[in-house]
Amino acid sequence: MSLRLAVLASGQGSNLQALLDAIAREDLDARIVGVLSDQPAAPALRRVPENLRWSLDATSFADRAAFDSELADAVAARAPDWVICAGYMRILGDAFIARFRDRLLNIHPSLLPKYRGLRTHARALAAGDSEHGASVHLVVPELDAGAVIAQVRIAVLPGDTAQTLAQRLLPREHALLLAVLRLLAEGRVTERDGLASCDGHPLFTPLRLDSAGLLDTADATPTR
Ligand code: GRF
Repeated sequence: MSLRLAVLASGQGSNLQALLDAIAREDLDARIVGVLSDQPAAPALRRVPENLRWSLDATSFADRAAFDSELADAVAARAPDWVICAGYMRILGDAFIARFRDRLLNIHPSLLPKYRGLRTHARALAAGDSEHGASVHLVVPELDAGAVIAQVRIAVLPGDTAQTLAQRLLPREHALLLAVLRLLAEGRVTERDGLASCDGHPLFTPLRLDSAGLLDTADATPTR
């Protein structure tokens, strides 16, 4: 049974497109059951047929809880196995997170726990980091603080700007998200009480994506 994925996106949707392409080439056993946005003009919405789109202008709501409640009902109506925040730029309230607890993922462009929040590339540069990267993590009420399932690392190069760093990282984010979703689709990564496990072994350290786009799940298996 293909993994049912609802994707939350606010902008371009390049992560979404990477998933759509993988599904089309039968590289991911999943179905996008909805693309939901707080931005009716988000290009991400136009990457799927109209019947899969949902959006409301979040700024037209009195408060976060009111928008989140509409969003949660729209997500639930699609009965997803997982809800993927991919370029979703609003903070999800506690009630939404509680409703989809244990099946909410986010891809964040930093090596968490470093640089939670925004402007991650600029902050990594300002700190003089030699490495940067992205993390796929479970979503909990505290911003970008959920258990990290997997990460991908890139070198910071001399002369890098926030833009060049973001551009070099984005395709690696796509590969990372796809690799994690493949493990979810295979039932190899599970989540319980805020902790992720791979092949039954708790992921106390994130899986790492290699240059071939594979996650070294051997990392998850404790050496005897
Ligand atoms: C990506 O860097 C993602 O990590 C961040 O939003 C950016 C744009 O994502 N959350 P997308 O192109 O809209 O998928």
